[in-house]
Amino acid sequence: MSGDRKDDHVRLATEQNRERGRLNEFDDVRFVHHALGAADLDAVSLSTHAGPLRLPLPLYINGMTGGSESTALINRDLGIVARETGVAIASGSMSPVFKDRSTIGGFQTIRDANPHGTVFANLSANASVENARAAVDIMSADALQIHINSVQEIVMPEGDRAFSHWPENIARIVEALDVPVIVKEVGFGMSGDTVAQLSELGVGIVDVSGRGGTDFAAIENARRTATDFSILSGWGQSAVVGLLDARDAAEHANVSLLASGGVRTPLDAVRALALGAQAVGVAGSFLRLLKDEGIDALIEEISRWTDQIRSLIALLGQVSVAGLAETDIVITGDVRDFCIARGID
Ligand code: FNR
Repeated sequence: MSGDRKDDHVRLATEQNRERGRLNEFDDVRFVHHALGAADLDAVSLSTHAGPLRLPLPLYINGMTGGSESTALINRDLGIVARETGVAIASGSMSPVFKDRSTIGGFQTIRDANPHGTVFANLSANASVENARAAVDIMSADALQIHINSVQEIVMPEGDRAFSHWPENIARIVEALDVPVIVKEVGFGMSGDTVAQLSELGVGIVDVSGRGGTDFAAIENARRTATDFSILSGWGQSAVVGLLDARDAAEHANVSLLASGGVRTPLDAVRALALGAQAVGVAGSFLRLLKDEGIDALIEEISRWTDQIRSLIALLGQVSVAGLAETDIVITGDVRDFCIARGID
């Protein structure tokens, strides 16, 4: 049953990505071009960090899948892609492992394919401390992603209905693990208040994973045989808004921000980095490319992204990911309206 659900997610997310319109709130972020300001490409370093995690590249394959035969093959391919390109990679939720031990290999295959790379395990905010420890061990993971997905659960007829214990549970997991915990959304965004709250729970790395890319409210609604629940499609904030809303809170609390959700191009990645993300995650569009065109096409695409991220950093007069914070940015459109309405400078 859980394996069928994982296969449905891959199929529906891939279809959604093929149909998705090109516009999203990353288009409201523009750089001011300074014609004489470019730096030398050779001087650019792409290395970055999030809390104690050192990453050679500011890009990662975000948590997606595992738990069925076909998703084990996807995980193996994504592990190879991560190894060949040097990007970090997260597994999908490992909760299937704790219901059916036979699914374990379909997650471990990521680490087997990529023994020296940076790998994140992934579990929900409901996970027990014991399972969180086990997930990290199974993957020899460098960090644990905990996803918070109340919108998705609400739309799933079989989903969770109790959420108020999540903060306390996250704090327990953070306290118990000796690897960093990354708390992430699954495409509905994070507010500055949530980032401040997570910091109080001991969380040092937050992925604001926002709307504009994969839409899990729409995916779960398409899986429903119960009454339609499409009103939540498009709910939440974009990664752009999340970064703008959270960056003061993050700086104040020493939280590292990551960004994902609707990242379409290397330019979107650089926009997110300039707005304060330490690294940028991509899920749906990399999965679609892998499914439609295969592993070599995805390796080529990610290599093109890293080359172009380097070019854009130089064009913006910087030699490091951190230096992007110094660039001149103009915010327009819906994002500007949101910032004014919410009192964000
Ligand atoms: C996801 N995502 C996800 N996230 C998570 O933390 N655990 C999970 O198991 C999954 N599963 C999953 C399956 C599939 C097929 C997709 C496409 C995505 C969410 C993902 O990590 C990310 O937060 C969102 O998809 C937004 O990023 P994109 O897809 O717009 O780049």
